[in-house]
Amino acid sequence: MTTKQTIAIGCDHAGYKYREAIIDMLSESYDIIDHGTKTADSVDYPDFAKPVCHSVIEEEAICGILLCGTANGVCMTANKFPDIRAGIAWTEEIGAIIKQHNNANVLCIPARYTAIEQAKSIVNTYLNTPFEGGRHERRINKICI
Ligand code: RB5
Repeated sequence: MTTKQTIAIGCDHAGYKYREAIIDMLSESYDIIDHGTKTADSVDYPDFAKPVCHSVIEEEAICGILLCGTANGVCMTANKFPDIRAGIAWTEEIGAIIKQHNNANVLCIPARYTAIEQAKSIVNTYLNTPFEGGRHERRINKICI
């Protein structure tokens, strides 16, 4: 029996239906830490982005997936954590590049500007793309203040 890898997910009210669809898609292959939110009731995106980052930093999850309307709020929140590299992706190509080049450990998707099927495809592309290392490793190591 192989142990499933774990992915953490979170969103605000703009992304909760996407969160459900992504969990449904991933549940067969991954264990999921679901940080919500679980309804359309208005919430504050940092309250859901931070727990996802904690799951990644504490190595409970291999990566995090965050959704809000534009993805900017969750991405800004996530990138406050020194060990988080969060990137916004709205196409599969960007989903691949933020892993290949930036080794993003949190994927942020703009729910209000991406169709659900597109969002699911971006998640799959991101998860199945390896980090290229090399010159990108050097650049990542320079991401600090
Ligand atoms: C919520 O209305 C919206 O501000 C939020 O989902 C996100 O777009 C923030 O960056």
